[in-house]
Amino acid sequence: MTSHSMKKHNANDLFFRSLGVDMNNHQKIEICLGQNCKPYGGQALADALNKKGVPFTTFECRSLCTYAPVVFVKNKAKLKASLDEVL
Ligand code: FES
Repeated sequence: MTSHSMKKHNANDLFFRSLGVDMNNHQKIEICLGQNCKPYGGQALADALNKKGVPFTTFECRSLCTYAPVVFVKNKAKLKASLDEVL
């Protein structure tokens, strides 16, 4: 890692830490935008993370619809997820 990329890496860490996100912990967020999760909070979570500039990916239904919205954080399911649980 060059000193330039190290400096950029540290700036990103500070940014995400200011949002309450620990990027050193390799936060990986996946939000379900399937037909049930999307209207039951999935889209709202995606919009909130976009507004905060927090990176995430989306997926379509993993058959956990009863627990919408479903989010995976570091590969662990958060059922009926809230923004606090995701960040
Ligand atoms: S729509 Fe999200 S788990 Fe089915």
